Amino acid sequence: MNLVDIKAKLDERRPGHSLPQALYNDAAMFDFDMAAIYGRSWLMAGFTCELPETGSYSALKVGRWPILLVRDKTGTIRAFHNSCRHRGAMLCKEGTGRSPRLVCPYHRWTYNLDGSLLSAARMPEDFDNAEHGLREVRIEVVSGVIYICLADNPPPFEAFRREMEALLAPHDLAHAKVAHVETLTEYANWKLVLENGRECYHCQASHPELARTFPVSASAYFEFGEADHAAQYEARMQELGLPLGPVGEDWWQAIRFPLNPGMQSMSMDGQPLVAKPMVAAGNGDVGSLRWALEPHSFAHAVGDHLFFFSAMPIGPRETLVTAKWLVHQDAVEGVDYDRAALVHLWNTTNLQDKELAENNQQGVDSPGYTPAPIRPRPKFWWCALSTGTAPRHGNTWMKSWAKKPRRRRT
Ligand code: FES
Ligand SMILES: [Fe+2]
Repeated sequence: MNLVDIKAKLDERRPGHSLPQALYNDAAMFDFDMAAIYGRSWLMAGFTCELPETGSYSALKVGRWPILLVRDKTGTIRAFHNSCRHRGAMLCKEGTGRSPRLVCPYHRWTYNLDGSLLSAARMPEDFDNAEHGLREVRIEVVSGVIYICLADNPPPFEAFRREMEALLAPHDLAHAKVAHVETLTEYANWKLVLENGRECYHCQASHPELARTFPVSASAYFEFGEADHAAQYEARMQELGLPLGPVGEDWWQAIRFPLNPGMQSMSMDGQPLVAKPMVAAGNGDVGSLRWALEPHSFAHAVGDHLFFFSAMPIGPRETLVTAKWLVHQDAVEGVDYDRAALVHLWNTTNLQDKELAENNQQGVDSPGYTPAPIRPRPKFWWCALSTGTAPRHGNTWMKSWAKKPRRRRT
């Protein structure tokens, strides 16, 4: 497909419907997605606790593009294209590590932690180190979470920063550590992975373990059965001074919501998985703070741990899912938590979703595939139980929600 074909396919889209087939499996469309979406969006790149010291680095990929996060001598975390300014070799392989300088493995050009070129052996006399520093990537850090954008003019970030600082403050990510990282290759287009990850139409049937604590139902997201559950939760959070949301713009959404009645954490039995809570307020019984960035990630922060999910495209039918679990930095494995138990629920859920997305891809590849209506996004009705918690920066669903009469559903 050329650009004209791509535009024609984009124009074929019908609001509220799944996408034309080519948007899920065509190679040229995939390259367009990478440039137009992943190349321009804010992406959740990791956590400051993964870069604890001067020289700590984290190398990751956005699609096929290698990125390097580095903590410099001043303590500032910087983001660079992980591509040597000599002949483009990758400076660091994917993963985390620590180094006093960044040394290219090819011809040993050596960079300072601020990206400036320190030395390039046997180059001509008129070679200017100052013109060959690493190319920087836009970076923002909010309450211990690192965001990057590959575009020179990223989407405005101020509202996101303001809201997320308030929502995340009780979770104290400055004193967190990564307890476990898991990666999973899903043989499905990134849109199928994310569409699946951001809807819960499938949850009740496919995620019996998740549904024990996460409020799923066939007809709405947040139907708890017990009419007072949401009202009591909201009153309790107000008492603790924890903001709820929902808040968001077209590229992000965030909300703090109650888990099912009697459930304190997202675990198999609803009980905390970590003895040392991340959230001091309410002894960690604060529901879940979920925030999501389009196009690739979401996170659930409950009182005792945080779960992070990121989907990075590899090819038209291949996506790398990275999952991370954070706990309080003083929580000791084997004493305060059991790692296998900590990761069990989301690993189970992610494997179920892998199966769903890969099955979906094969069906979407069928000549019989035709776009069809997607179930409308449910409303976070319980947030309207009292005044002062109306959605702000409303995207489409929030705006339509805001017009609804505010009443308690029973
Ligand atoms: S490519 Fe890095 S030093 Fe040559
Ligand atoms: Fe799912």
